Amino acid sequence: MNSPVEPDALIVILTGAGVSAESGLRTFRAADGLWEDHRIEDVATPEAFVRDSRLVQRFYNERRRQLRQVAPNAAHHALARLEREWSGEVLLVTQNVDDLHERAGSQNLIHMHGELLKARCLRCGQICAWETDILEDSQCPSCSRPSCLRPHIVWFGEMPLKLNRISAALARCSVFAAIGTSGNVYPAAGFVSMVAPGTQTIELNLDASMVSSAFRECIQGRATDAVPAWVERLLTPLG
Ligand code: OAD
Repeated sequence: MNSPVEPDALIVILTGAGVSAESGLRTFRAADGLWEDHRIEDVATPEAFVRDSRLVQRFYNERRRQLRQVAPNAAHHALARLEREWSGEVLLVTQNVDDLHERAGSQNLIHMHGELLKARCLRCGQICAWETDILEDSQCPSCSRPSCLRPHIVWFGEMPLKLNRISAALARCSVFAAIGTSGNVYPAAGFVSMVAPGTQTIELNLDASMVSSAFRECIQGRATDAVPAWVERLLTPLG
């Protein structure tokens, strides 16, 4: 069992697809996961977009549409509660491209793999809010040119976003938690090894991840059970 956390401590939380699974969004690597139906090389690389942009847009258009049919679950709400009620700072870093953390109320949030509800212009570089399908002739709201929008998603071979800010937070946090992520994709899978000695590290996941052995504590269970219980534990002062 870990010792109590200082009340002004920084808590950094990394989330992955498992946190949104019980909202109805498929994870990537489960037997029924997204990468079972689609090859990464076909839909999630810059080369795939050059080869067949229509296929890539269709894949992300479908993901964007699904977002309208789902809602945040108890795990998203518990993390938003932690940010509201914790006396120190909470930084949430998500690999997820859905907006369920925001909808639950999280504010100090980094989408390191991009966001489904944003598009990026290949001509002027602007990133804009985008809630509908990106079509072949969709116009950039900033430079007005047609046919130059791509999903604002970090594809394989591209650099995740805000890594400097994340590294700085990892170096000074007192608690690092990883929730619902399989530990297959770097750099996120390596965050647990970037914290200072003495940092409390905890993994909350349905099963053991690829990097479980790097954590001091592992809790196996569904995010909607495990995360609210963990948040309650953090917010309850030891009597
Ligand atoms: P994965 O699909 O690799 O892993 C999801 C993890 O969540 C697995 O370890 C599951 O056991 C766990 N899980 C499933 N249901 C759960 C539940 N109800 N409660 C708790 N845990 C549950 O997804 P990620 O690790 O997020 O990147 O994948 C990382 C990145 O790989 C993604 O951001 C995406 C993908 O390729 C890009 O597209 C760039």
